[in-house]
Amino acid sequence: MTRRLLVTHALPYANGPLHLGHMLGYIQTDIWVRSQRMMGNEVYFVAADDAHGTPIMLAAEKAGVSPEAFIADMRASHEADFTDFHFSYDNYYTTHSEENRELASLIYTRLRDSGYIAKRSIQQLFDPDKQMFLPDRYIKGTCPKCGTPDQYGDNCENCGATYAPTDLINPYSVVSGATPVLRDSEHYFFELSKFEELLRNWFSGKLTDGKPVANPGVVAKLKEWLDGGLKDWDISRDAPYFGFPIPDAPGKFFYVWLDAPVGYLAGFKNLCERAGVRFEDFLAPNSGAEMHHFIGKDIINFHGLFWPAMLHGAQFRTPTALHVNGYLTVNGAKMSKSRGTFIQARTYLTAGLNPEFLRYYFATMLNDAPVDVDLDLKAFEERVNSHLIGKWVNIASRTAGFVHKFFHGQLAANFSPEQNELWSVLISHYEGVPALYEAGEFAEAMRRFVLIADLVNGHIAAKAPWVMAKDETQRDELHQVCSFALAAFRLLGGLLKPVLPVTVEAAEKFLAAPIADFDAACATLHNHTIHTFEPLLARIDPKLIEAMVEASKESLGSAPEPETKKPAKKDSKPMTEATVTTTESNLISIDDFAKLDLRVGKVLACEFVEGSDKLLRFELDAGPLGKRQIFSGIRAAYGEPEKLVGRNVVFIANLAPRKMRFGVSEGMILSAGEGGSDLFLLDADQGAKPGATVR
Ligand code: MSP
Ligand code: ZN
Repeated sequence: MTRRLLVTHALPYANGPLHLGHMLGYIQTDIWVRSQRMMGNEVYFVAADDAHGTPIMLAAEKAGVSPEAFIADMRASHEADFTDFHFSYDNYYTTHSEENRELASLIYTRLRDSGYIAKRSIQQLFDPDKQMFLPDRYIKGTCPKCGTPDQYGDNCENCGATYAPTDLINPYSVVSGATPVLRDSEHYFFELSKFEELLRNWFSGKLTDGKPVANPGVVAKLKEWLDGGLKDWDISRDAPYFGFPIPDAPGKFFYVWLDAPVGYLAGFKNLCERAGVRFEDFLAPNSGAEMHHFIGKDIINFHGLFWPAMLHGAQFRTPTALHVNGYLTVNGAKMSKSRGTFIQARTYLTAGLNPEFLRYYFATMLNDAPVDVDLDLKAFEERVNSHLIGKWVNIASRTAGFVHKFFHGQLAANFSPEQNELWSVLISHYEGVPALYEAGEFAEAMRRFVLIADLVNGHIAAKAPWVMAKDETQRDELHQVCSFALAAFRLLGGLLKPVLPVTVEAAEKFLAAPIADFDAACATLHNHTIHTFEPLLARIDPKLIEAMVEASKESLGSAPEPETKKPAKKDSKPMTEATVTTTESNLISIDDFAKLDLRVGKVLACEFVEGSDKLLRFELDAGPLGKRQIFSGIRAAYGEPEKLVGRNVVFIANLAPRKMRFGVSEGMILSAGEGGSDLFLLDADQGAKPGATVR
């Protein structure tokens, strides 16, 4: 019986470009989907941009565009990356859609009518300037434990203490610099605690196919949370917020994580309408169809607690399985901007690296467990060159020529007895491969590939067709060796097809033998005629990898302000980094540049700021613009501020003034470098007058 599957991966936030960390889980999903299609199942692969929330609202504001325009640009950038990495979506959509608004409202209304929504007044910090409630990470202040200034609202990067934002000493709003005040607000809560039994049953698979919903480690983690007691979940946010209004609650919006997973269903519904598929068949509580979610380990709680409870509470089916991936590290460490290992998907492509090489490397590293994966750039180069070119493509490049030269491109009528035996060994290794894909054991499937390829190359080496070709009496055997090699090359193509869809398609054309499914690859191709061989893949040139790392370093120049650089914390949702880098997709026009009013300023005074170990206070003579006070975070680089008096600096004169707890900052002084002590003020040559325009 063909299985029917709806497959999704975590929806990337629409506030920054995709990086190789995202690509790990996403590529895993695409490989799985393609393998399912090769098993003959009916698969719908759906994803979308996650378009709502405060960070996106503020990023759009900062960019001076509407949130709608901002998320449209981001979506275009994501879709271009996915296309170029050969993703095979049936639909790529956005959570900011009519379908999603309707479905989120429907789910909410059903939950409310079933008595799962409670209202409670809570106290939250409010930015009086910006007139908005502040999420924890938009509040900074001095750590109550160790006194380090400029720490985030939930934990201290210096001493590791965790606390509530209200515990901070001298708190200030990251958005405006204003001192936040406590305010009451009515919030809506989803009563998760009412779903404990449901969740226990769901974990064990009792609601679906009887199989546990995830890898044992993931299920153990979910049970641990459950045993610790479930808290109600705050699903509302106050205006201003970029999201969907809650139907019966003026001024209240759904928290982004309420409508984000609903976005899976909305994207599918949008597809169903076009493709003539019955949405209800997949969503009914007793549906025989499957629903698979691929996610990263940082969002297990959302998908393993809230989401199944929401679905069940709203009389929909629960997910069949969660497939969880670990985090990506590069060269053994967390991805880092300064080392050039925070690599964007686009940077990889622009460097000229083949997207299928990354797909292959990830495949060799992935299994069913949510373990971290290291992209070791040296191993990446060596493995791709050795496996794909050395072990696979070479099988064809060493044999196809003889088939054309001596046999008109036609393969032999049979294998030798020895080859028949070897072929059944190859097939026996190949047979388990679909099950390995099904189980997410890609690394083991790739080991099978290497094993089979090594056996085939061993046979070729032992027979040495290039020697046989010199002896006319050995024509028949030469024919058999080359024919066997090419049939085996195709068998390996079948194994690799979910991982290398484009290269395998080229191989299918060369062999004039399409590989429609896993079984089709097992044909022996006796008497079959092939086309001429064209090189299928080029080895990785290490210079391309160096170029990619260099280009990733370059993007530092326009790295985000410190407040968006917060490292991921355990057990909380890290925000995607709102990086803006120079890629084709975000070139600016001269008009954009003209919006900046850059000026020369002469330093009248410069001093340390009490209570801050980062800032210097400048007073600038800005000529016709008058005097300006500007705070600049360059203290670590300039330990003797008085020495700066009298020199010229370059500053942005039309930046909105920022109220800080030390006073108002009226602009921003430009400096070059990586930050910390590595910062250098820009200067203007002798003769430049205070207030002169920089263009
Ligand atoms: N928008 C939410 C998901 C909503 S799903 C209904 C989100 N977005 S994200 O852009 O921050 O992350 C998207 C996916 O990328 C998540 O699965 C996350 O785990 C994954 N990764 C982000 N950085 C990663 C690494 N460095 N390594 C591996 N996966 C990472 O969360
Ligand atoms: Zn501290």
